[in-house]
Amino acid sequence: MTISLKSAADIDGMRLAGRLASEVLDMLTPHIVPGVTTLHLDKLAHDHMVNVQGGIPATLGYQPPGYTAYPASLCASVNHQVCHGIPNDRPLKNGDIVNIDVTVIKDGWHGDTSRMFVVGEGSIQAKRLCHITYEAMWKGIVKVKPGVRLGDIGHAIQMFAESAGYSVVREFCGHGIGRKFHEEPQVLHYGRPGTLEELVPGMIFTIEPMVNAGRRDIREMGDGWTIVTKDRSLSAQWEHTVLVTETGYEVLTMSAGYPPLPAFVQPAAALATS
Ligand code: MF3
Ligand code: CO
Ligand code: CO
Repeated sequence: MTISLKSAADIDGMRLAGRLASEVLDMLTPHIVPGVTTLHLDKLAHDHMVNVQGGIPATLGYQPPGYTAYPASLCASVNHQVCHGIPNDRPLKNGDIVNIDVTVIKDGWHGDTSRMFVVGEGSIQAKRLCHITYEAMWKGIVKVKPGVRLGDIGHAIQMFAESAGYSVVREFCGHGIGRKFHEEPQVLHYGRPGTLEELVPGMIFTIEPMVNAGRRDIREMGDGWTIVTKDRSLSAQWEHTVLVTETGYEVLTMSAGYPPLPAFVQPAAALATS
């Protein structure tokens, strides 16, 4: 396995790309209300990335082996959709939950982040799933420091999500990121402590757990992209791009509009950025 280590200059590039990706979500937030279509959100995001940020939407035309080219500038996964939902012209309804996942390329560097949004008034159950998934992502992030192994991160996420009564999707994982959208290593959101790759300063990868209210099984829709829960239970996901520093971690996908950190996160570590 070859995991690229980023230089100080590389990290500056990744900080900018990461902040821009997060700022796309900030920009979209007031638009995510009952009646809006995910296609409209896609257009807003596309125009912002291209015309305001001078960036490139990494997902547009993205075509991993075995896939058709992805047709949009963000992923919008609603309710029982797990990930890779393709924007469409169906209006979001009161009580829907939606994951918006944005990846911006700036100066050749990729910033990848996603958040959950509750449309209008959400049910207690829907809000709990989104909140627990947010905390599950952070349970993984706070583990990050040199000497820790990827299995420690996956284990922390899995324990937290399963203790809350939820299941963790196994087929999709976080990933190294840099000049390429998806690099090594794979960052599983489940696992055993003390296993897998050891973290080294300069590694950059995403942590992006997908958590289902019901069973963990998924299937792919006929469009070749959208992943849904087999039992049609609700699914949530949050994603950050994270740098391994000498002493711990730095979250690269932060911006002014980012939601409050969980109480167990030390803000100095999470926000120790440029
Ligand atoms: N942004 C997703 C991730 O977190 C990947 C989306 S690829 C797409 O890795 F083609 F579906 F957009
Ligand atoms: Co990602
Ligand atoms: Co993403």
